[in-house]
Amino acid sequence: MSNVKEKDFPAVDGCMSRRRLLKAAGCAGAAALLAGGLASKAEAGLSGAKTYPQVKVANMRDLRTGRPVKFDYPLVGRKNIHLGCSVEGGVGPNRSIVAYSMFCSHLGCSVEMQWESGMLVCECHQSVYDPGQSGRVMEGPAPTSLPMVNLDIDASTGDIYAVGVAGLIYGLRNNLLDGEEVR
Ligand code: FES
Repeated sequence: MSNVKEKDFPAVDGCMSRRRLLKAAGCAGAAALLAGGLASKAEAGLSGAKTYPQVKVANMRDLRTGRPVKFDYPLVGRKNIHLGCSVEGGVGPNRSIVAYSMFCSHLGCSVEMQWESGMLVCECHQSVYDPGQSGRVMEGPAPTSLPMVNLDIDASTGDIYAVGVAGLIYGLRNNLLDGEEVR
C-alpha cells in the first residue's frame, strides 16, 4: 500500500532544510477503504479495545508547498495538520508527508505552523514543537511531543489515509472515546 515511488507523484522536500510545506485537500468526514484493505492495527489510547478508522484525508496530487491542510481525526473536531517533512514516521517520497494533532500537550491550545522557523508553535504559552523530529518539544511548558497521525498511501491512486494516532491527544482519556468518530 505505502510503496509509493517518486516517479508516481510530485516530489516533496524535507521541510526543515528547504522550508517547504505541503497542503492537501482537507477532509473531515470522507472514509474509504482501499483496494486490498488497510489493517487497522493501533489501539486507541489507554484502555479501549476499539481500533482506529481508516479515513482518506488527501491525495498526493493535491499537495502544495506552503499550505498545510487541517483535517479531523479520529474524532470530529480533533484537528490535525499535514506537513511536508522528512521524518521518522513520514510516508511517501522521502518520507516527507507527516501529520500531527493540533492540540498542544500543555493545556490543549491550538498549534500552528510558523513558516519562518519551520516549527509548530502554540498560541497560548509558546511551546515549540519540531515537526522534523516527530513533534518533539523544543521550548516551552509542553510536557510531551505532539501526537503523530499515522498515515498510509494507496500507491495506485495516491490517496492518503489516516490510520491511527501515536500518542494520546490532549484532553482525552482515549483517542476514540468522548466524541463522534470521523467516518
Ligand atoms: S497550551 Fe500550549 S503552551 Fe500552554
